[in-house]
Amino acid sequence: MSTLVNKIALVTGGSRGIGAGIVRKLAEEGADVAFTYVSGKENSEALVKEIESLGRKAFAIQADSANAQSVEAAVEATAAKFGKIDILVNNAGIGIMGPIDTFTLEDFDKTFDINVRAVFVAIKAAVKHMVSGGRIITIGSTNATRVPFEGGGIYAASKAAIQGLTTGLSRDLGPQGITINNVQPGPVNTDLNPENGPFADFLRTQLPVGRYAQVEEIAGFVAYLAGPDAGYITGASLNIDGGFKG
Ligand SMILES: NC(=O)c1ccc[n+]([C@@H]2O[C@H](COP(=O)([O-])OP(=O)(O)OC[C@H]3O[C@@H](n4cnc5c(N)ncnc54)[C@H](OP(=O)(O)O)[C@@H]3O)[C@@H](O)[C@H]2O)c1
Repeated sequence: MSTLVNKIALVTGGSRGIGAGIVRKLAEEGADVAFTYVSGKENSEALVKEIESLGRKAFAIQADSANAQSVEAAVEATAAKFGKIDILVNNAGIGIMGPIDTFTLEDFDKTFDINVRAVFVAIKAAVKHMVSGGRIITIGSTNATRVPFEGGGIYAASKAAIQGLTTGLSRDLGPQGITINNVQPGPVNTDLNPENGPFADFLRTQLPVGRYAQVEEIAGFVAYLAGPDAGYITGASLNIDGGFKG
């Protein structure tokens, strides 16, 4: 049974990886979906066609999450095109890794601009277009609290910030009937962290399941949180990480 019929979703960073998986799954469940990208125009155009072939509407928006005005404009463009926003998925994120002695202030700011500030900006803009039953889901990371390698401190800090933002904003949004949750994946097979990449063998040693997740496994969980059965879940940081030890 389709759980998201007549719902409008906006997914940031929807052109590839986990975000594209979420776009597909929400559309399969009946939602019309807008999504942002930064440089993946071709992927985005192909994904729009794919979603339209499911009989749903799709809308690709070029919007760099590092730019607060662009993020706000993407939210407004979604609301203008579809008339409302029911579901916001903050997925766009980057993972710059490096040791503290060479990690630059520029990369610190870029990480926080995209992984944290853009999330705040999108939520603030989107809630103006949401009614009771609205859903906000951010893709954090299990690395928020578990970092079994060097060089991940700034990424971890940005994802830990999402935990606090989620818990705190659930207080603001609960009275409006809007839930907000933080999905924390472990290693997921994407361009950011390929299952055949240089860190993969080490990461598999941290995983009781002995394998990476595929994007569909994260997307299914996000669709559940976006759906009608998840109305009593809010303010939560939820691991979906194959038991990642860290
Ligand atoms: N993969 C993992 O193991 C893993 C684990 C835990 C958490 N996560 C989190 O999951 C999220 C998605 O990761 P992923 O692995 O799917 O990454 P990915 O394969 O690198 O894909 C990133 C997506 O975000 C978009 N994006 C990147 N920078 C952007 C920006 N500045 N503004 C707007 N969009 C931007 C990309 O668009 P373009 O196509 O235009 O570049 C692409 O659609 C991130 O928040 C990441 O931290 C990933």
